[in-house]
Amino acid sequence: MKIAICGKGGCGKSTITTLLAKTLAGKNKEVLIIDSDESNYGLHVQLGMESPKGFTGYFGGKEKVMTDMLLSQFSHQFFHQAWTVADIPAGYYTEKNKIKLMVSGKINQANEGCSCAMGTVIGQFIANLQLNKDQVALMDMEAGVEHFGRSIDNGVDMILMVVDPSHESLKLTKKIAGLAASIDKPIYYILNKTTDGNKKVMCESIEKSEKIIAEIGLDQEIMEAGLTGKELFLSETIATDLRRLSSRYFQS
Ligand SMILES: Nc1ncnc2c1ncn2[C@@H]1O[C@H](COP(=O)(O)OP(=O)(O)O)[C@@H](O)[C@H]1O
Ligand SMILES: [Mg+2]
Repeated sequence: MKIAICGKGGCGKSTITTLLAKTLAGKNKEVLIIDSDESNYGLHVQLGMESPKGFTGYFGGKEKVMTDMLLSQFSHQFFHQAWTVADIPAGYYTEKNKIKLMVSGKINQANEGCSCAMGTVIGQFIANLQLNKDQVALMDMEAGVEHFGRSIDNGVDMILMVVDPSHESLKLTKKIAGLAASIDKPIYYILNKTTDGNKKVMCESIEKSEKIIAEIGLDQEIMEAGLTGKELFLSETIATDLRRLSSRYFQS
């Protein structure tokens, strides 16, 4: 099962990716997390892991990848046979407690250009990746919808949208539902940062409310970990909810 975790900036994509990964690993799944957000640096911190080298580097780095793409008029294939998790080269992943982390690459300098090269490599990787029934890949997407435009979502089995209590997020649910339908991918929602005051509006704003599969409240511990840059741990309530969810929806 390959799952794309998406939503607007700051809605909690990396938080949910981390909590879900820890839940699945606790259920004896081997989890591969793919950090495909080239603008954010916090996911490995939330996981309590080191950040590996950007995977685009394995193909010669951003400039080389871009040249290959241009010379081939954007038809260059970076993978010539199916890859499994075991094929990811040393140095391009880090590992802790049955969770492996890889990253597409990061924007590090002003004027260095767009992140198309990294998006192309990671998009082809996820489409090409073969998992067994005990493995799950979670892709922490960049904010917004550009990843749909770049065809990265074509390679996953499910879109999981994180929705926070903001008008923009609620509006985005319709857009993302339409994009997911256009490529024939099932979509589910996780409501995040809910309170007694905002839950009703959030549920009512989502067209297919039966697709809301979990809800995570506005949580003091998550907020503090986010502020101080600490690893995130599953609280008992969140663990129970996500465990139920993973049995129901995230089996291969
Ligand atoms: N349920 C929650 N309760 C409280 N704070 C949260 C919750 N989920 C996320 N946050 C905080 O919101 C901020 C953005 O979360 P993050 O996962 O980095 O978002 P994204 O990856 O979508 O940009 C972080 O500071 C995080 O700690
Ligand atoms: Mg993030």
